[in-house]
Amino acid sequence: MPIVAIAGGTSPTLGRSIVRAIQSTSNVNTPIILTRHSDSAPKTKWNAAVRQVNYENHVSLVAALHGVHTVISVIKVEGPQWYDFQLNLLRAAKEAGVKRFAPSEFGLGPLADERVGLLALKGDVWDACQESGLEVARFNCGIFMNYLSMGCNFGGDEERVQEALAGLNDVEVIWDLAGDKAEEPLKCDGSSPRITLTDIWDVGKFVAGACELELGQWSGEMEMEGETIEVCKATELLEKYSGRKLKVTKVRRKELQAKAEAIDGMRIRKQVLNKMIAQFLMLEIDEEVGGALMEPTMNKLCPWVRAKSVEEYLQRCWRK
Ligand SMILES: NC(=O)c1ccc[n+]([C@@H]2O[C@H](COP(=O)([O-])OP(=O)(O)OC[C@H]3O[C@@H](n4cnc5c(N)ncnc54)[C@H](OP(=O)(O)O)[C@@H]3O)[C@@H](O)[C@H]2O)c1
Repeated sequence: MPIVAIAGGTSPTLGRSIVRAIQSTSNVNTPIILTRHSDSAPKTKWNAAVRQVNYENHVSLVAALHGVHTVISVIKVEGPQWYDFQLNLLRAAKEAGVKRFAPSEFGLGPLADERVGLLALKGDVWDACQESGLEVARFNCGIFMNYLSMGCNFGGDEERVQEALAGLNDVEVIWDLAGDKAEEPLKCDGSSPRITLTDIWDVGKFVAGACELELGQWSGEMEMEGETIEVCKATELLEKYSGRKLKVTKVRRKELQAKAEAIDGMRIRKQVLNKMIAQFLMLEIDEEVGGALMEPTMNKLCPWVRAKSVEEYLQRCWRK
């Protein structure tokens, strides 16, 4: 059976959801995980075999990719290392005879590469992918729907935590249930922008579906959509299903721009993240396809994957 290697597949979010989806929906592919070399690296994870790699060692990478058909990268997009690691992985994939490659994307569209400082190098990685001669895809999904559950307390019910957060453990973006508040971007005309949200578990199903497509069917930009919804509507639904009243602050582009500029040159992680979030929110205000709005390309290519809407997601998470 063709082997799908997930680089960074130890990730409790996308790693687990992609491995689980391939194992449960595909009779076609076998998932394996690539993890950075370490004495404590597990031999198996999420019931998949693990191969150790050194992203800075070409020989190690080529050996780990022996017999692999498809590489899906979900490695953490952080620091300049990320760029080199992606390119090294791509070069090794080519030498090892891999047929398909997807770089670590899974976010907003390509406009984010131009407008979100930390993501600037993603465009260069994509250019290298397109020049590689491999069949490549840029999987993007908008914002993880699971941010709707950040900061919520499910009373120690682990199953619900897994379902709602899918391993997400991040700073709050827009919604903050622990603080009973939300910070919503607002367009110039005073209306609420639409954004695309997709549940991490559904992202895994779409990627598993993409791996089942015949060679030649990957079409470069392979965006997916849980639901494209006005931010204020998502907040209303969150309030309805959680039974909580959130204090909503509306932020306009001017304030976000000033916030992002004020953080210029700062290197403390929290400030870097705050700047990135301000840039994300501006991209949401722009309400453009290629930015915070996704084309449902994967939904059409894999019609058997039925992604959850925001309401379905919240109903499942908050069911009694
Ligand atoms: N759409 C959204 O809302 C959203 C939000 C967050 C993230 N994402 C996307 O999700 C993907 C994973 O991001 P994440 O932040 O959640 O990652 P993560 O789960 O924290 O890390 C994923 C894996 O990357 C590997 N890794 C960590 N640091 C690394 C480094 N410095 N160099 C090489 N490998 C490293 C680790 O695997 P090993 O230790 O096993 O090697 C880890 O399990 C990315 O594609 C990101 O763009 C999307």
